[in-house]
Amino acid sequence: MAVVKENVRVAALGDIHHGKNAVSGSLQPLFAQITEDADILVLCGDLTDYGHPDEARALAREITSSVRIPCVAVLGNHDFESGQQAEISKILSDAGVVMLDGDSTEVHGIGFAGVKGFCGGFGRRALGPWGEDIIKHFVREAVDEALKLESALARLRTERLVAVLHYSPIQGTVEGEPREIFPFLGCSRLEEPIGRFPVSVVFHGHAHHGQAEGCTAANVPVYNVSASLMREMFPDRPFRLVDIDTRPAQSRSDAVNRRAGSDRRGVDRIEVTK
Ligand SMILES: [Fe+2]
Ligand SMILES: [Fe+2]
Repeated sequence: MAVVKENVRVAALGDIHHGKNAVSGSLQPLFAQITEDADILVLCGDLTDYGHPDEARALAREITSSVRIPCVAVLGNHDFESGQQAEISKILSDAGVVMLDGDSTEVHGIGFAGVKGFCGGFGRRALGPWGEDIIKHFVREAVDEALKLESALARLRTERLVAVLHYSPIQGTVEGEPREIFPFLGCSRLEEPIGRFPVSVVFHGHAHHGQAEGCTAANVPVYNVSASLMREMFPDRPFRLVDIDTRPAQSRSDAVNRRAGSDRRGVDRIEVTK
């Protein structure tokens, strides 16, 4: 019988942008450190620089040689640049990465739902489906990604849910970027499904110069794990670590239950380990 971990440590990182000039083995120290520190690796898109299969193959070699823990990932916009995103997903799947595109998976009793997401802006300023067809198509793409995320979350039966995105679902974690590009960094339509399910934590990338931490309107923690931000925040450990307590509610301590009771999502039980 498989041993169920009571505390699962998730490492999250986005925007690796593994390019054609990357030196072979350059990611191995990072992946070895992640393997040492965490139980699961979450990769939040822009895995490659130009979406070339050769870049994905090089990244796959780094992963297979150094990552010894389960890995889940979504693609980012850079992975679509060459129109070979399906091939990139296959290469990484063959390397053991669980690629999520409106899909869900369970690891160590935690449910992961992932989509790339899309842009369109936030809140009342978000672009609406009005006017030219091309604007309607643009907005439709964001709506479709939000629906895919909702379907993926709905399929999970675990008590703990994690949403994995490339684009941001909230404005808070893109703050710091030029305001003019906020609408291209994410879309609050992605926040809607997160609000309809008991999501414990959200990871995304894409906003390389945004804020590393934020939360949804319902107080779900949102972490922007873009590699450049992670290097800035944690120079000795350039990725985000989050602890998730997977014990069922009835077996938690009284103290923990009181805290969880104060927040129906139990987000206070997500501990960021520095
Ligand atoms: Fe990126
Ligand atoms: Fe991106």
